[in-house]
Amino acid sequence: MSLLSLPWLGLRPVATSPWLLLLLVVGSWLLARILAWTYAFYNNCRRLQCFPQPPKRNWFWGHLGLDKWQHLASEGSSRLDMFEHISLMTLDSLQKCIFSFDSHCQERPSEYIATILELSALVEKRSQHILQHMDFLYYLSHDGRRFHRACRLVHDFTDAVIRERRRTLPTQGIDDFFKDKAKSKTLDFIDVLLLSKDEDGKALSDEDIRAEADTFMFGGHDTTASGLSWVLYNLARHPEYQERCRQEVQELLKDRDPKEIEWDDLAQLPFLTMCVKESLRLHPPAPFISRCCTQDIVLPDGRVIPKGITCLIDIIGVHHNPTVWPDPEVYDPFRFDPENSKGRSPLAFIPFSAGPRNCIGQAFAMAEMKVVLALMLLHFRFLPDHTEPRRKLELIMRAEGGLWLRVEPLNVSLQ
Ligand code: HEM
Repeated sequence: MSLLSLPWLGLRPVATSPWLLLLLVVGSWLLARILAWTYAFYNNCRRLQCFPQPPKRNWFWGHLGLDKWQHLASEGSSRLDMFEHISLMTLDSLQKCIFSFDSHCQERPSEYIATILELSALVEKRSQHILQHMDFLYYLSHDGRRFHRACRLVHDFTDAVIRERRRTLPTQGIDDFFKDKAKSKTLDFIDVLLLSKDEDGKALSDEDIRAEADTFMFGGHDTTASGLSWVLYNLARHPEYQERCRQEVQELLKDRDPKEIEWDDLAQLPFLTMCVKESLRLHPPAPFISRCCTQDIVLPDGRVIPKGITCLIDIIGVHHNPTVWPDPEVYDPFRFDPENSKGRSPLAFIPFSAGPRNCIGQAFAMAEMKVVLALMLLHFRFLPDHTEPRRKLELIMRAEGGLWLRVEPLNVSLQ
């Protein structure tokens, strides 16, 4: 055993061996990595905080399209397909959040938005036609060629935004540049991605940024539109809950301009939040997901799902398990009263999936749904249509022939 002096580490001379020295080197390397990861994680979190924080008089107001709704419902009670109108609203607000782009798609046609809708329809169709599953056959077909063209258009839009943003970036002092930008406006998702670095301190490539932005654009619109449409349906079926939500919002925003709804307000809407959660239980926007088993799974009855098998996870089935949710078809927001939720497994309610690949946009989605509902309920009353909608279980939970409700304007000025 040799005697080593390590004064440069502040250590007294110690009796050590090459093994101890190796341990010290590996330990120091690991510590350095952990510190670097922690810093990168902290840094990303700090930057992401500025992404969803709405400014005080928030721009989201303009992307709700309330004026359009008021106009549509101006002749008393109007029959509207919630999916059609709310999908445009969620696309409009996402394009603003991700690219700072005003699509105005709720008032006039937008080629980009029409293409995202076309892509969603093509993906849905492909998932249901086994012959379209093989890339080789798909890209030879008419739908495959449409899909290819639509991807090109969406990619070109994102590329152009990234190119333009890079062009205006200073070569030095990027952090200060973004700090100044954040003072005058909310950073958008492209800004956040431009600022992000991986654990080695390497920035994302343009291709990485495009992939992230397009994934959020694609994954965030239909799901949230479905969530919102079904909450409005459930509140239309239960006017007593709808009225209680409206009163909660009115109480919260009394003496204030509704346009000034703030981030912290969203935590002050407990009943409305319970109504949203109960709707996500009864009508989960993503009814199924799939997972590939990375190890053998032993079921309670002893049968084994072997490693490598892809399993379909039936979220709608989990949410209708009568042993956890008595009378599962009944819409009852009080199931999510904190008192009644005690002791319930967190895996009994999984609208955003669970585990490491759960929905990365869930906080954003919950915030968006609460803002939209709060402002909608202040201005409109929602009533059931004469035809009862039938659930249509596709990649997204839709309704056969659309989800029609009657909408009546309340006597509140939109100015
Ligand atoms: C009510 C609204 C939403 C619901 C119910 C929902 C649900 C889900 C579910 C169930 C998954 C897991 C999919 C799977 O495992 O196959 C998922 C993933 C994802 N969601 Fe959402 N989502 C919503 C809104 C959003 C929004 C607004 C965004 C972005 C702005 C978003 C972005 C994503 C992304 C990027 C993933 C993939 C995450 C990964 O694979 O690591 N989602 N979502």
